[in-house]
Amino acid sequence: MKNPLAGFTGAPGFLLAYAKTQDGVTPVDYNNLDNGSANAQPKSVSIADLLDTAKAASSGTLAGPDANGYYTATIKGTNVFPADVKLRTVALQGYFTQISPAAGRHTLSVVKMVGSDTARRSVVEPNKCGNCHEVFEGHGGNRNIGLGSEGIVVCVVCHNPGIVTSGRGIADATLAAYSFTAAENTLLLNWGVTKAAPNAALSFPQVSNNFKDMIHGLHAGKDRTNPIRIARDATSRGVINLIDGANIGFPGNLNNCESCHKAGTYSSVPANTLLTSVEADDGARTGAGGSRIPADAKTSLNQPNLADKVTTPFTAACVSCHDGAVAKAHMATQGGQILVARSAANAAGEACAVCHAAGKPEDPAVVHK
Ligand code: HEC
Ligand code: HEC
Ligand code: HEC
Ligand code: HEC
Ligand code: HEC
Repeated sequence: MKNPLAGFTGAPGFLLAYAKTQDGVTPVDYNNLDNGSANAQPKSVSIADLLDTAKAASSGTLAGPDANGYYTATIKGTNVFPADVKLRTVALQGYFTQISPAAGRHTLSVVKMVGSDTARRSVVEPNKCGNCHEVFEGHGGNRNIGLGSEGIVVCVVCHNPGIVTSGRGIADATLAAYSFTAAENTLLLNWGVTKAAPNAALSFPQVSNNFKDMIHGLHAGKDRTNPIRIARDATSRGVINLIDGANIGFPGNLNNCESCHKAGTYSSVPANTLLTSVEADDGARTGAGGSRIPADAKTSLNQPNLADKVTTPFTAACVSCHDGAVAKAHMATQGGQILVARSAANAAGEACAVCHAAGKPEDPAVVHK
């Protein structure tokens, strides 16, 4: 790190998120489209870069402190927001590491809208997550749930409808050499993944990590017909993460939606919510005889593709708990689409709100009491 602030090493960073028109709608969720990052991730600008004067033009600068102790970050170069986007947001992630006494200063992640952009809606209440989790420090304490002044939890800037699990992209040699724990080896057996087989990673499950789909799925745990299975390729830092919902029991009433939600946020899904991406597929087949290999699964994460398998947004909110065959059949008769190609998806065809919305006969806020 160049020019660290006195007394510190390491520094937090800013996440720059926005919504750009996709699949014919200007979404009410982040998608961070066309910013050069894979898997719908926002751009990340570290304070370390802003302090490095060699990067002033390409990354930005940090000035201050002013008389009140505030610093001003100026974002420059390829980091500036594109002109044609909505929901522009800056979030803080990571933390300072103090030299003496040596300690990581974990910090609540603040989220702020840029300028007069309409704020992203606020759906869940971090203090309610805290009733069970006490303090939620995601990703090793880099992303901590706290309510920013806009009421938005930091997770949604990345856990947006475009993010899917990346386990399918792990190369054969890496997977074969990885030393899983005994418990993880049991999961692999249950999932039917033989880690030394050719193209083994392609037999990993692939699911959405969109916040509603992932958090509903994790907490519905073993109550689901097919519990959520998460396999993540974090091999760039030597890690493969596996989570099996079959091992999770929710220590509350799952139909008490307000154990997480703010009142009035879960009767329906707003217009212009994006399709949930579930399985990424860019059509590439670069293996022998035109077959698919893990590297193809990896490139599929680079951008949304017409061949991706998606689920329509209202249905995604419900099927992430109600995943039995009868419930799915009901949703399908009402225009819900589960795991269809993006090219064939029609979010406007969902009739759910006719019956499942505030004041309607099957209002989720009423039926879940
Ligand atoms: C009634 C208690 C309860 C509430 C409320 C709750 N959780 Fe959980 N959560 C759990 C339990 C239990 C687990 C499973 C822990 C395990 O088995 O490792 C879990 C697991 C998780 C996991 C997966 C962690 C991992 O890596 O395996 C995440 C993420 C999570 N919760 C986030 C949240 C968020 C965000 C909220 C609020 C919107 C929330 N939880 C509210 C009890 C709760
Ligand atoms: C800067 C972006 C970012 C932020 C902010 C973020 N995540 Fe993640 N998260 C990711 C990515 C990327 C993945 C991995 C997706 C993949 O490759 O499979 C992930 C994966 C996860 C997983 C699956 C387990 C794993 O390690 O793969 C859980 C659970 C999770 N995040 C919870 C949270 C929670 C809760 C928050 C908010 C406190 C949060 N994340 C904030 C980017 C982020
Ligand atoms: C363990 C925590 C948790 C519980 C319990 C929970 N939800 Fe959610 N729900 C979430 C999270 C997290 C989101 C995504 C929030 C966001 O996008 O800001 C969400 C999103 C939703 C959405 C979409 C809202 C929107 O604005 O896009 C609906 C609808 C929904 N939930 C319905 C329900 C219903 C119905 C119940 C009760 C049967 C329920 N949820 C219980 C965590 C939970
Ligand atoms: C967090 C998990 C969760 C989510 C999300 C969720 N439900 Fe439920 N729902 C339940 C549980 C648990 C019950 C209680 C009955 C049961 O055990 O199936 C229930 C019951 C119901 C019932 C009453 C009929 C019955 O089967 O008992 C309806 C109708 C219903 N849900 C509709 C919805 C709709 C519509 C959505 C999406 C907006 C939704 N649910 C989202 C967990 C959930
Ligand atoms: C014409 C009215 C109507 C429409 C439209 C409708 N539903 Fe339902 N839905 C119902 C009724 C009635 C029930 C059963 C309620 C009960 O058993 O208490 C139900 C039950 C459900 C359940 C609970 C299933 C279970 O496991 O018991 C879910 C989930 C659900 N609907 C989701 C959806 C989704 C998603 C859509 C849109 C794709 C949709 N519904 C459209 C009337 C409707």
